[in-house]
Amino acid sequence: MIAILLGPPGAGKGTQAKRLAQKMQALHLSSGDLLRAEKAAGTELGKQAAGYMDRGELVPDSLIIEMMVGKMTQAKSILLDGFPRTLAQAEALDVGLTKHGLKIHRIINIDVPDVEVERRMTGRRSCAACGAVYHVDFAPPKTAGKCDKDGLDLVQRNDDKPEVVRKRLITYHQQTQPLVDYYSKHGLLKDVDGTQSPEKVETKVEAALA
Ligand code: AP5
Ligand code: MG
Repeated sequence: MIAILLGPPGAGKGTQAKRLAQKMQALHLSSGDLLRAEKAAGTELGKQAAGYMDRGELVPDSLIIEMMVGKMTQAKSILLDGFPRTLAQAEALDVGLTKHGLKIHRIINIDVPDVEVERRMTGRRSCAACGAVYHVDFAPPKTAGKCDKDGLDLVQRNDDKPEVVRKRLITYHQQTQPLVDYYSKHGLLKDVDGTQSPEKVETKVEAALA
């Protein structure tokens, strides 16, 4: 099963993908997490991607397609988070999957309005070591500023500053939202209201995947 989680920045794609990957024994492939790991490791790809990410722009299609399409054979069940994000990426994914006799089974569009996105992103904190994600109000850690799993300091993502969040929303509406139409035509897209609690959203995403 290959499923795509679509939605604006801060919709909860990563939160839901982490929960469901564990439950469904699926591989969670997040293009954003992979890029941040490349950046932290100081690789050539990480260096090339850094400026785009920090400005709230998309990393060029050629770099992303090369990084992601080859990974589609890594597991039987895959949850894609943050990829594809442009029509060119969606088309390259279709071509890559067809080559391996694979196909997309479901696309879930997690719907959250811009004003809620801004609240979520400015309060998001994550563990630089294990990647666990929190929110200062909606999903707080047991001890303020410390990761529940390893006790290390929580950090704010560079691109969660208010001015970058606004730019990321513009980028989303211009370049990624057209994918909702593209995938509606495939007949595989289901919309889920992402404004409820993470638990309620999880139940809906799970039902939509079935
Ligand atoms: P990426 O890391 O993919 O960022 P994004 O799509 O902007 O999404 P986020 O990770 O910010 O949000 P999310 O939907 O995962 O929400 P989360 O679960 O964390 O990409 C970063 C950058 O990399 C891009 O800007 C681009 O430069 C580059 N990039 C990546 N992929 C690319 C591609 N394919 N092409 C080109 N460039 C690419 O939740 C957010 C917060 O809300 C958390 O604090 C969480 O605790 C909280 N929360 C979650 N669910 C709920 C809920 N139901 N109620 C209340 N709070 C909630
Ligand atoms: Mg994410």
